[in-house]
Amino acid sequence: MKTKIKRLAALLLALTMLFTLVACSSGGDDTNSGDNTNSGDTIKVGFAQVGHESDWRTASTKSAQSTFSAENGYELSFVDCDNNTARQLEAVRNFIQQKMDYIIIDPIADTGWDTVLTECEDAKIPVVVIDRNITDSDKYVSWVGSDFKTEGLACGEWLAAYAKAKGISEVKPLVIEGSTGASATNGRTEGFKEIADREGWTIIDSQNGDFTEDGGQEVMESYCQSYKGQFNVVICQNDNEAYGAMTAMDNAGVTYGVDGDVIIVSFDSNKRAVELVKDGKLNATFECNPLAAPTVDEVIKKLEKGESVEKEIYMKESWLANEDIVPSITINGTTHEIIHVTDEVLANRAY
Ligand code: AHR
Repeated sequence: MKTKIKRLAALLLALTMLFTLVACSSGGDDTNSGDNTNSGDTIKVGFAQVGHESDWRTASTKSAQSTFSAENGYELSFVDCDNNTARQLEAVRNFIQQKMDYIIIDPIADTGWDTVLTECEDAKIPVVVIDRNITDSDKYVSWVGSDFKTEGLACGEWLAAYAKAKGISEVKPLVIEGSTGASATNGRTEGFKEIADREGWTIIDSQNGDFTEDGGQEVMESYCQSYKGQFNVVICQNDNEAYGAMTAMDNAGVTYGVDGDVIIVSFDSNKRAVELVKDGKLNATFECNPLAAPTVDEVIKKLEKGESVEKEIYMKESWLANEDIVPSITINGTTHEIIHVTDEVLANRAY
């Protein structure tokens, strides 16, 4: 008899707990109004990150994770999409299902977005785009990132001025591109090509190194075989590709950098690359700033207060070189300083 009563009591307790649970889960988050005013204390953010292909990406992820932290009032769902566009779309759809307050997307590719962004809009979840661009839809509230075409133009303008200052009559560049379809690749390629065309340089070859060190090494190995003695410039569309290209040139007996036969430059300007510039192994590096998350935080905080936000916000970036022979370059009428890398410049790098 006693055992029967105990069992009944346990059953009643379990049922009470179950009812409490159901009541709680249907009371709060279920009603995401999408009016950007969060009723709870915590802001639920889903971030569909590109992947983990480069040092730049690691810096970007760390910045996002420390910005969208519990201490800052966020609950972050972070998805590393491993450079897989289908996985990235799935991550965004899962964020919709999970009724996030905001969705942050760093788009692997710049197209293929309109349908899923319409789904976000229908679910009344504001989307903030970070870093790379989306070119086939404007259904996001704000984009915070880099001007990739200007980065490419800066690289070309610097090279033109540097070649003149050094008395190099013929510029023969090879390009190691970033991932196909990424706006970072498209902008840098377009900007550099614009200057190459103006200067009458023939780009010997331009192949995809996927923004990785292995990719850069592989492409450079094939360049060293195919174009031995025919090139004097290597443009690497990120730092990691440059590290790989250096390994390939070391193995092939090709000298590079300030005292070498080949001028080598990179984009991103992570601390390791800036150190290589200081040491003269890289001639120059063109910054792409990975610390956009605090600006996205400002955008979200404004939206929370019901304030309007800018559609496009550009990150501040600088260009750095080993030698002090090109003090500045002008792009579209604006003059930019070329920073000569010293110990002090290196010590002050934030990432
Ligand atoms: O989108 C930014 C680019 O992506 C960075 O240049 C590169 O390092 C990264 O992988």
